[in-house]
Amino acid sequence: MGQMLTVALGERSYPIHIGDGLLERTELWAQRLPQRRVALITDEIVAPIYSTRVARALSAFDIGVVQITVPAGEQHKDWETLNKVFDALLANRCERKTALVALGGGVIGDLTGFAAATYLRGVPFVQIPTTLLAQVDSSVGGKTAINHPRGKNMIGAFYQPLAVVADTDTLATLPQREIGAGLAEIIKYGLIRDLPFFEWLENNIEALVTREAAALAYAIRRSCENKADVVALDEREESGARALLNFGHTFGHAIEAGTGYGSWLHGEAVAAGMVIAARVSQQMGLLRADDVARITTLLERARLPVTAPNLGLERYLQLMGIDKKVEGGKIRFILLRGLGSAFVTADVPSAAISAGLSATTASA
Ligand SMILES: NC(=O)c1ccc[n+]([C@@H]2O[C@H](COP(=O)([O-])OP(=O)(O)OC[C@H]3O[C@@H](n4cnc5c(N)ncnc54)[C@H](O)[C@@H]3O)[C@@H](O)[C@H]2O)c1
Ligand SMILES: [Zn+2]
Repeated sequence: MGQMLTVALGERSYPIHIGDGLLERTELWAQRLPQRRVALITDEIVAPIYSTRVARALSAFDIGVVQITVPAGEQHKDWETLNKVFDALLANRCERKTALVALGGGVIGDLTGFAAATYLRGVPFVQIPTTLLAQVDSSVGGKTAINHPRGKNMIGAFYQPLAVVADTDTLATLPQREIGAGLAEIIKYGLIRDLPFFEWLENNIEALVTREAAALAYAIRRSCENKADVVALDEREESGARALLNFGHTFGHAIEAGTGYGSWLHGEAVAAGMVIAARVSQQMGLLRADDVARITTLLERARLPVTAPNLGLERYLQLMGIDKKVEGGKIRFILLRGLGSAFVTADVPSAAISAGLSATTASA
């Protein structure tokens, strides 16, 4: 069973299918393909668990499949892996109408999406996200990228998929830490624009941690609704609406880069980053102490870190200085003026930043 949402972007609108047993439901999206041939791109962990099922379902529909498997992990979201994908696409004579299908987490989705945006000046692509984080966030909205040694997601493109197919059954094989990482982005939606959802999460977080199907399906749907709304308002992060999705990410990206990509999961870094941002908001008199406590309590119940690594204030500022959200040399912060209400500002006293950081970093 499943349900369908739409990302409303005029002629580039596309469906998000959410439900169990969707991996084999090729008919949901096959009619959108311009050619009966696809390149199925996945990683070495996902391939042995799921790629045969998807490839078989496609073949049953008379769709030819070129399989491309790349190494798993954030450290491979880079030029080298992207080039391997291009090599395989060219060697297999994939054409401008051959769709790329991303089967995997956000790393595969971001990499495949960027490959699709640039191969032969742009080919269609489909997202089949298999991590909680990818199902609630990265597969929706058309941000694609690879990392540069100097910063995360520095090379990329806005490029929308033809469809997103989130099979909730795939979450059963996900390591527990990856569930937590997805929960961080789910909690983010509640914090930035959806107080009733934040309250629902306070009542249902254990069910999500233990992967109860109905709770997961609801949280994924509500998250995708929020993401789709924001993307429809501000597809290319120009008006400020989409920037709110980066709540916790300015600090989170600094944690990821400062500890070396891969030791902190993206969602874990976002969790600690949201605590820092909440404390900076509190420092500025925008958020009450008991609201900050509600945030840290919910994150802890989701088994997420609420303490950031002590990289030192200077290092944090240096790492944040190369963030994409920098405009005219000034760092733009996303802060809260209450639970469920985020806004963007470049006007943050450095004393508030250092107080927020030092209240959140480990003293050891
Ligand atoms: N484009 C966007 O809007 C956006 C938004 C948020 C995050 N991101 C990006 O997403 C990436 C993080 O994505 P992620 O958290 O999915 O990480 P990931 O893609 O690295 O997946 C996490 C791990 O789980 C494995 N895996 C995937 N599906 C599995 C399954 N069903 N069962 C067992 N193992 C499975 C993967 O092989 C990997 O080892 C980051 O690079 C981040 O920058 C992008
Ligand atoms: Zn994120």
